[in-house]
Amino acid sequence: MTDPWSSLAAHRAATEDRAIAALFQADPDRARGFSTAADGLLFDWSKTAIDADARDLLLALAADVPARRDAMFAGERINETEGRAVLHTALRAARGPVTVDGRDVVPDVHDTLDRMRRFADRIRSGTISGQGGAYTDVVNIGIGGSDLGPVMAAHALAPWMDGPRLHFISNVDGADAADTLKGLDPTTTLVVVASKTFTTIETMTNAETVRAWMGRAVRHPADQFAAVSTALGRTAQFGIDSDRVFGFADWVGGRYSVWGPIGLALMLGIGPDRFDDFLAGGRAMDDHFRTAPLEANLPVLLALTGIWHHQVCGYPTRAVLPYANRLIRLPAYLQQLEMESNGKRVTMDGADAVRPSGPIVWGEPGTNGQHAFYQLIHQGTQVVPCEFIAVAQGEEPELDHHQRLLIANCLAQSKALMRGRSLDEARVLMADKGLEGAELDRQARHRVFPGNRPSTTLLIPRLTPFTLGQIVALYEHRVFVEGVILGINSFDQWGVELGKELALQLAPLLDGAPAESQDGSTRALVAAVRSMREG
Ligand code: F6P
Repeated sequence: MTDPWSSLAAHRAATEDRAIAALFQADPDRARGFSTAADGLLFDWSKTAIDADARDLLLALAADVPARRDAMFAGERINETEGRAVLHTALRAARGPVTVDGRDVVPDVHDTLDRMRRFADRIRSGTISGQGGAYTDVVNIGIGGSDLGPVMAAHALAPWMDGPRLHFISNVDGADAADTLKGLDPTTTLVVVASKTFTTIETMTNAETVRAWMGRAVRHPADQFAAVSTALGRTAQFGIDSDRVFGFADWVGGRYSVWGPIGLALMLGIGPDRFDDFLAGGRAMDDHFRTAPLEANLPVLLALTGIWHHQVCGYPTRAVLPYANRLIRLPAYLQQLEMESNGKRVTMDGADAVRPSGPIVWGEPGTNGQHAFYQLIHQGTQVVPCEFIAVAQGEEPELDHHQRLLIANCLAQSKALMRGRSLDEARVLMADKGLEGAELDRQARHRVFPGNRPSTTLLIPRLTPFTLGQIVALYEHRVFVEGVILGINSFDQWGVELGKELALQLAPLLDGAPAESQDGSTRALVAAVRSMREG
């Protein structure tokens, strides 16, 4: 039997010149067959070049997904390069058992969640207060997965924020700490140090800086610190009382960790009940992923459109374009989720990957992006598959005319990408403006849109804690499915290590340590930095 990859390549070659619009001419009802609804979400992938044959071949690629999915949910050590289970789903599991090494881990998850809830309630009610009174502000210090999830969710759920104000410090650039702390009252600020390992240099440097800042006004700064980590010995060493430390297990990957203690800042902001709704949304997506047939399974279909565009069609990037300003940090969150998970050049067995790994993911909310980079998306020489996310109903009923305009823009973009504008149409436009001859031709060519550019649309009824949970879990599982199809371990991140090691080696050079052993470029740059700093 021919393998589905070869058949897909052949199918793509045979249909490459067919316009997406032609698929709709052949089947006006195509949107019905190429869109999938689940638990209130709708994923429309009809504006892609995937036809019924391509869909069947793509589904054949996903043949191993159910077994790998079940192994993940069952707590098997599918993160083989780190010898770990992958159980972020257990953080949102309502019922057990989920076993790791024969032990049900769900009761521990719920114990910790209950402790977080009690802590959050007492902070929010003022029962636990700072030296200056009830906490008005929370500063989360973390980076990567210990920052991007909470910060993304905090933006997304702004209408549900009714606790202390949330702030985030991630970058080791002192400007981040300085700008964030400016205007905060240390006596009513709670600091959450969020780090799975509690060794990350950026986070530990920021934690020390913030502790010193607090120490200038607060007698016992450690009393106004909480920590979330898997490294309880290190949190104790930092001086944080175990009452305010919330642990989790190593089977939660950093970029998958917003559901548990890493979400503490979020829980402080929106309250435990809404945090529960967020977990319930993730759980609903888990149930869907586990039970829906592959051909009606949202994470699988999202993954297959991704595979089609990147590995089959060869489009190098994928734009995520939320038409929801509160999803402003979703593209950054997805960059880590997708690129740290599937940006790998070696497959699970250590062999060279024979196909491109995950794509470059980028994006920005619409409509802002329209006035920035959509020019390239419409008329540039590279095709960028666009993943639109639209929200049917806004949270500001009095501003519903904004919402209608926002949605109209989203629909207009996917339509424009597909249909484009032909030279003949452009010529008519120019003729209407009174142009003629060579000038008409020249001007018309600038106004041609090639069209036939693929996009998908994820439609969400409202952006709430529950639907945000659904979306985040949807993308997590999408990344997992892509990883399974590519034979990649989506749960390690060895590619971040080398830079970290070298940074530690290079730091003393900026204090004057000899740089002779460095390569020529690094040596010259160190010399230039030193001279600028001295100068
Ligand atoms: O940069 C790599 C990384 O390990 C990410 O995977 C992780 O989310 C981030 O650093 C932060 O790690 P930690 O939570 O241990 O501070």
